[in-house]
Amino acid sequence: NTSVRDKLLASIRTIPDYPKPGVQFRDITTLLGDADAFATAVDGLVGPFADLGIDKIAGIEARGFILGGAVAHRLSAGFVPIRKKGKLPHETVRVAYSLEYGLDEMEMHRDGVKPGEKVIVIDDLIATGGTAEAAVKLLRQIGADIVAACFVIDLPDLGGRRKLEALGVSVRTLIA
Ligand code: PRP
Ligand code: HPA
Repeated sequence: NTSVRDKLLASIRTIPDYPKPGVQFRDITTLLGDADAFATAVDGLVGPFADLGIDKIAGIEARGFILGGAVAHRLSAGFVPIRKKGKLPHETVRVAYSLEYGLDEMEMHRDGVKPGEKVIVIDDLIATGGTAEAAVKLLRQIGADIVAACFVIDLPDLGGRRKLEALGVSVRTLIA
């Protein structure tokens, strides 16, 4: 749908050379601040999942929390945060993932999802896919059924979608 795509594209601000020279940073704060664009993005992420009995939305820190909360409400699903290490108070599962320089770790509460629950992963953007791959590993460690991973923005040159699809995850993105 061209108009959905155009509306989302027009609402995303590109910041050259942030956070470092050569990077064109796709800033979604402008999308979030535009009621119509925000609703369009949430509708797009909800997509075909309305009647599938989704149990939980797993939102990736930080922008996946904003979008994921709205999607959870729309699907009458619960929300579970996937966070950078050290932020969650109860017992967690943890996985290392690679950043541009070195490693970091992501965590979720061990009891955040029950084995067999149907889960959708939500984030604003997929680049290399390293962050989303870590989320998939955490969810699979605790036996979740990952129905899909959904993102507003795909940066296709960075290969994240292929990485997730190679793990057997169905990927939905709204714009590239
Ligand atoms: C950004 C983005 C994704 C991730 C995508 O988050 O919101 O979570 O990077 O990159 P990848 O596909 O190469 O892993 P960032 O790491 O900037 O964290 P923040 O939202 O907490 O600032
Ligand atoms: N915007 C937001 N997050 C990102 C980007 C971007 O352009 N690239 C990698 N993570």
